[in-house]
Amino acid sequence: MQAKLGTTDRRHTILIIGISRGIGRGLAAEYLRRGWFVIGTVRSSAVAPELEAMAAGMAGRLRVERLDMPRPSAIGTLRERLADDRLDVLIVNDRIVGASDWTA
Ligand SMILES: NC(=O)c1ccc[n+]([C@@H]2O[C@H](COP(=O)([O-])OP(=O)(O)OC[C@H]3O[C@@H](n4cnc5c(N)ncnc54)[C@H](OP(=O)(O)O)[C@@H]3O)[C@@H](O)[C@H]2O)c1
Repeated sequence: MQAKLGTTDRRHTILIIGISRGIGRGLAAEYLRRGWFVIGTVRSSAVAPELEAMAAGMAGRLRVERLDMPRPSAIGTLRERLADDRLDVLIVNDRIVGASDWTA
């Protein structure tokens, strides 16, 4: 099914790797502005409180998870945490990764 940015007739969810700053933070804000549910990852506990405060104003539409990509076990842990979530879009914002990182 095609998920169009801006569609609000059902819950659309995006997972963005790396929303602590930069393009990832901007993408998270834009998808939230357009009514999407955003799951975003951070590495540092230093930025999390700011994002968690942002999440508090989003009625549950922004969820912050922790992830450090080079650790395969961390990817597996996140995958398990998201097992019940239907994802429409994945943006790996920190770098390019192989599909095997997400499908094992
Ligand atoms: N900005 C540009 O003009 C431009 C141009 C072409 C391509 N790009 C590409 O677009 C992407 C985003 O650019 P940006 O300028 O927004 O980069 P940025 O400011 O460096 O932000 C990168 C984000 O990814 C996170 N991240 C980095 N390494 C990670 C890891 N190992 N595990 C989990 N998260 C990690 C960072 O978290 P931390 O805060 O924890 O580091 C941060 O949230 C990058 O892949 C960049 O190469 C950018």
